[in-house]
Amino acid sequence: MRADDALPQSESGDILVVEDTPASLRLLASLLAKAGYRVREAPDGELALWSAQAQPPDLILLDVRMPGMDGYEVCRQLRRSPALQDVPVIFLSAFNDTDDKLRGFEAGGVDYIAKPYDFLEVKARVAAQLQLRQLRRLLAYQNAHLQQLVEAKAQQLLRSELALAAEKQQRDAAERESRLRLAEIAHLNRNASATVLCASLIHELNQPLAAILSNAEAAELLLARPRPALGEIAEIVGDIRRDNLRASDLIQRMRTMLRKGEPVHAELDLARLVRQVAGLLAAEARKRRIRIEVQAPDTPLAVCGDAVQLEQVLVNLVLNAMDAMQDSPGAACIAIRAERLHGEVQVRVSDQGCGFDGEAPTGFASFASTKPQGMGLGLSISSAIVQAHGGRLTASNNPEGGATVGFLLPAGAARGTLPA
Ligand SMILES: Nc1ncnc2c1ncn2[C@@H]1O[C@H](COP(=O)(O)OP(=O)(O)OP(=O)(O)O)[C@@H](O)[C@H]1O
Ligand SMILES: [Mg+2]
Repeated sequence: MRADDALPQSESGDILVVEDTPASLRLLASLLAKAGYRVREAPDGELALWSAQAQPPDLILLDVRMPGMDGYEVCRQLRRSPALQDVPVIFLSAFNDTDDKLRGFEAGGVDYIAKPYDFLEVKARVAAQLQLRQLRRLLAYQNAHLQQLVEAKAQQLLRSELALAAEKQQRDAAERESRLRLAEIAHLNRNASATVLCASLIHELNQPLAAILSNAEAAELLLARPRPALGEIAEIVGDIRRDNLRASDLIQRMRTMLRKGEPVHAELDLARLVRQVAGLLAAEARKRRIRIEVQAPDTPLAVCGDAVQLEQVLVNLVLNAMDAMQDSPGAACIAIRAERLHGEVQVRVSDQGCGFDGEAPTGFASFASTKPQGMGLGLSISSAIVQAHGGRLTASNNPEGGATVGFLLPAGAARGTLPA
């Protein structure tokens, strides 16, 4: 049964009475008709089966003893027919012992009425069986309806699961794409910073190279003597080695800045990173007559992330601070502070420059520059990098003048997704 079939209506009942004694058949039929039922009559088993198959009745009153096919056989055949197997059969019989009744139930009967009948009993049993049948049909209807609802819900669930999976795939692809874009823009930004620092770094590189040259010349002179002072020469070689290391360290830092590599997600010490950046920018600061002061603990400030990208954030902040101090007479110092703050590590770059024009930014939009050569990308890229590390960039104007721009990162393991 499907639930969109009409809801089974309560009805007066279509009863097939099967009885070989014509007088009994007529009497029973007329009494039932008077009680409000529609009644069909069949005088033997064959006609009863034919009539039931032509139009399934709601109930069959079936005489047991009939010539030809007896009531039990008729009942067994009814039960074999899919259209008739649910039609309730009440046996009518003059036999009244338990064995006969049991045979009736075994053949598929639902009740048993002994002859001679008390018509009130017949009416009560017929009404009870019809009501049962009606209730069974109602139950089947409700079950089918429920089943349809469950199936519809399951379909709906499947559709939304599929839609969710497709949405997640799209979101993942978009996230991958935006991580790639960020990594590319971050690399462009590093190139731009390297261009700014290039002149001062080349100048810085000149110092150890010149020292190496003059020390090498001094060593040659010492070696040309008849009895070279080996101790002195060893000291000179030590100086040459130190200057060489200084030069190659500078070159290595430039190469790291310009490298376009995969971001690395590893534990690093922010205090050390701050000192390295101060070292990298020392020559540029000297050129601009600015002092960089670092306040960072000797113990490590551990965070997880990509050292090159976090270094780039700091370079952006310090270069901005230097630019801001360009036209501020008397401005001489940039302070970089790194400290642990509850479960986070905070780094702040404070300057004595012009401060932000009006309110300090919070959203860090791209292309917002007040500098003739500025692209207005430094802060927005820095903010994107810090966010990708699970942190946030902050900016404010200092009450005493100048600005402080910094960031907070989760201490220890980073929770954010790094640019790919
Ligand atoms: N420390 C600061 N003091 C005052 N203003 C600042 C400071 N840092 C940033 N700004 C302002 O914010 C603007 C945006 O900075 P951002 O680093 O994003 O771009 P930019 O420095 O102009 O260009 P670039 O892309 O080369 O970095 C700057 O132009 C400047 O007006
Ligand atoms: Mg900038």
